[in-house]
Formats: sequence, structure tokens, C-alpha cells
Amino acid sequence: MDKIRKTVQAMQGYVPGRQPKGRFVKLNANENPYPPSPKALEALGKTAADSLRLYPSSSAEELRQAASEIFEVPADCIVAGNGSDDVFTMIIRSFLDEGDTLAVVDPTYTLYETLAEIQGAKTERHPLSEDYALPESFFESGAKLKILPNPNAQTGTLFPEADVIRLCESAKGVVVIDEAYALFAGSNSLPLLKRFKNLVVTRTMSKSHSLAGLRVGFGMSSPEIIEAFNKVKDSYNLNAASQLAAAAAIRDTEYTAGVVKRINETKDFFAKALASLGWQVTPSGGNFLLAKPGSGDAAGIVAYLEQEGYLVRHFNTPRLLDKIRFSIGTTEQMEKLIELLKNKE
Ligand SMILES: Cc1ncc(COP(=O)(O)O)c(C=O)c1O
Repeated sequence: MDKIRKTVQAMQGYVPGRQPKGRFVKLNANENPYPPSPKALEALGKTAADSLRLYPSSSAEELRQAASEIFEVPADCIVAGNGSDDVFTMIIRSFLDEGDTLAVVDPTYTLYETLAEIQGAKTERHPLSEDYALPESFFESGAKLKILPNPNAQTGTLFPEADVIRLCESAKGVVVIDEAYALFAGSNSLPLLKRFKNLVVTRTMSKSHSLAGLRVGFGMSSPEIIEAFNKVKDSYNLNAASQLAAAAAIRDTEYTAGVVKRINETKDFFAKALASLGWQVTPSGGNFLLAKPGSGDAAGIVAYLEQEGYLVRHFNTPRLLDKIRFSIGTTEQMEKLIELLKNKE
């Protein structure tokens, strides 16, 4: 269809993890196996008739206030998004003109590149080293925008704070640190916001807060950058129910810490169990593990697990083809998974 923009015709589009209905144990999209905070569910139930009849706060005022208290970042340095993916749209719209360059590492979360493509911008991919450390070329790149998840998506690698500092110091443009998994890693870059005006930190409620279905994320930076995000974002980007429930969930720090602790404990158990079966396990700061089976037949194992009712993630890219990414489920689910893998041997 020639009416569609050439860039859009040429692009493949982002491929999300499958969301089939029914009998599967879903370990393919880094969702959280535990329910969200009861306080979030209570807030959802109380969403009054009036708050649905009227438009929501376009700036998600109360939610940003709650985020400000918890993250210890001023409210005018925060924007709320319909998931952090929405914040990445704001970021790309704000910093990249057609023909500009985005720098990312490889492998990583591929949505950044898709959004840059829509904007008509180019993407430079900088391959991580054999053990997934940042390459020199990523620091040296003069790209207008660099986006790095920390911990990294797909691999789980936690990059040291010194790397983030070096990136901010050496960048010609803006550095975005995507902290979707930061609570699992127990380390973050928020304190660096005071020091670097070219830094943006993003967060999501989808992982540690069990609210992937609600779609809530945040971008944090200097007031000037947040002002730009407010200009390019969709006007009512967060619905009223999301704003109320997410504000309650983010304040329930004790509940979130409990869930994160359980998932990290299960991750440690699962990593040890996989290693004892001869898998090569990549150390992970996230709620998932990337691992390579001794047999090398990742695709065969993924198909077998699906038959047994377990969905896991297999990426059809050269460096990930021989590996599987397992989101961490409940301890019972991961114990059962280990039994299934033993039976396959
Ligand atoms: C690194 C990374 N950032 C962001 C997201 C998406 O977050 P959200 O659900 O807030 O859009 C994901 C989802 O898997 C992710 O892996």
C-alpha cells in the first residue's frame, strides 16, 4: 500500500512476548508471578464513578507525587508514562530528528530501535563483549542519544555505576538508563540525576510491582527535559484507574520488597539447579535468567517445554539462538521446571 510511509513499510515492528490465553505457565515476558499490592487492588475497586466520567489528570499529578516521595526525586523532574515504553516514545520524539543516531548495545531490548525507525532515525548497535561487558565503542560513540538498560534486558547483566558515570561524562548527547529491573538488582542511578543534566532514568511498574497489565512507567531527568517530554506525550496518556492503583502500589514499599526478595531467592535456587544440570548460566540482576543448555539444542527444549505447558523466551538472533531466557516464576513453578528439564536429559 503506497500510502503508508516508506519507513513504516520497510520496518518489521517490535515482536512482543506471546500472550496466549489458558493453560500456560508464562515465563516468557518477565512478568511477576505474584499478585500486585492489595492496596493497589483496593484503590482500583474504589475508582469512583466520577473519576471515570471525567478525564484523568493529564500530568498524573498524584501518582507523580507518590513517585517523588519514593524515588526522592522532585515531582517536576518526573513524567509518568503508559508503561515505560510510552516514556521511550517521548524520549525518541524529543531527542531524535530524522537521520539522527541512536546508540544501543547488542543484545538488548529491541523496542528502542523500533521507535527510532518510526522516527526515521538510524541505530548503531554496539556488540557487548563475550561476557556481556560494555564495549569501548559504546563510550566513544558520538550518537545524539544512547539508551542502556541496567540490568540489561535479555542478558540480565548489571553494569557497574562507574560505567554509567563514564557514559554520562563522555556523551555528546543524552544518556538514558532503563531501570526496568533495578529493584531486583538492588542498585540504581537515581542519585546521579543531580550530577548529570544529560541523564534520563526510566522505571516501570510492570516487573517488581506486578502491574504489567496496568501500564505504568516513569521518566526522570532535569526539569528542562521533562518539559520537553510533556510537550511530545499524548495528552491523557495514563487512565484514571492506572493513576490511582499505581500510586497505592508504589507507596507500598514493604510489599514490593517482600516480592522482590522471594523472586531473587527463587532465581538463586534456579541458577544453581540449572548449573548442576550442565547449563551455562549468565549472572543476572533481573527477574530472569539467560542460560545455555549443555546439549546446545535451545530450540528443541523450548518446544518441549511448551508441550509441557511452560512458555519461555527464545530469541532468533545470532548471539541468543543457543540460549533460553527464563522469567522467574514462583518457587513451585521453577522446581517443576527443573524436574521437566531433568526428564528431558
Ligand atoms: C529493559 C526493558 N525496558 C522496558 C520494558 C517494558 O516496560 P513497560 O511494561 O513499562 O512498558 C521491558 C519489558 O520487558 C524491558 O525488558
